[in-house]
Amino acid sequence: MFTATRPHLTRAHPSLPHDLFEAIDALKRELNAVILAHYYQDPDIQDVADYLGDSLGLSQQAASTNADVIVFAGVHFMAETAKILNPDKLVLLPDLNAGCSLADSCPPDAFAQFKANYPDHLVISYINCSAEIKAMSDIICTSSNAVQIVNQLPKDQPIIFAPDRNLGRYVMEQTGRNLVLWQGSCIVHETFSEKRIVQLKIENLDAEVIAHPECEPAVLRHASYIGSTTALLKYARSSSSQAFIVATEPGIIHQMQKQTPEKRFIPAPATNNCNCNECPFMRLNTLEKLYLAMKNRQPEITLPDEIRIAALRPIQQMLEMSA
Ligand code: 13P
Ligand code: SF4
Repeated sequence: MFTATRPHLTRAHPSLPHDLFEAIDALKRELNAVILAHYYQDPDIQDVADYLGDSLGLSQQAASTNADVIVFAGVHFMAETAKILNPDKLVLLPDLNAGCSLADSCPPDAFAQFKANYPDHLVISYINCSAEIKAMSDIICTSSNAVQIVNQLPKDQPIIFAPDRNLGRYVMEQTGRNLVLWQGSCIVHETFSEKRIVQLKIENLDAEVIAHPECEPAVLRHASYIGSTTALLKYARSSSSQAFIVATEPGIIHQMQKQTPEKRFIPAPATNNCNCNECPFMRLNTLEKLYLAMKNRQPEITLPDEIRIAALRPIQQMLEMSA
């Protein structure tokens, strides 16, 4: 785990300003920019953000901002969603290679063929997918509203759920409905070791396991609470427990620790002795790249009009059903 290093001084990089926090603040004013960041970002980025949130909160912020420039500290599908909602704004992503294994596990051509097999099904897609998949969907959902959205649909409505099979399975359990699942998954949330989590529980008898629904069922069955990143954060704050084994990307522990410094947060370990529980895509963004993106007004998110327009309707549908 890395730790916050504020003030972020860059003596080692003579081409960068001495105090990046100050320089980013100045650019924010100059550009009338807002920095939206996900909880899996580097703690320095979390500390400089105007708004931190889960995918739903970030989409709601993107839909309502008055800023001229959105600096998205997250992964590509998140910044793309902000662009779909704000076609006339400049949307910057510090590193364009910050993708998502889950979004990549659902290629548009293969999904179009899959969908064609179920002509009477409504398509609900998890927001962790490309704009092309969103354009083929009827409703977008996130981990915080998937159950709520499925529950709002008529009981006899057949549904395809894509691309995450783990979240899909969890929604099936919670709603008692049968969904046709696309078999996608996240490399980070499928890396947690059930065996090592059980071992940690034995060593920390006071700790509760809390987990993101992208985890596999073998991990979820040990969790006393399952939810989106924002929901996990809220739960860790309100629970009377003093210790938690956190089965999601460990970037979120920065906020958990900030909100409740007296509690202990133990990152759930990966199967191998590796750092594979850290999202390699989220971690491509750095404070330096964020500063450079604002200074150079790039890398910018762009989208073909046809896809952008088709992808907007299911996102708006989600926002309306989550109000
Ligand atoms: P949340 O919407 O819960 O923040 O999840 C985003 C994500 O990418 C989880 O891997
Ligand atoms: Fe995608 Fe998984 Fe990273 Fe979330 S943690 S952004 S689902 S690869």
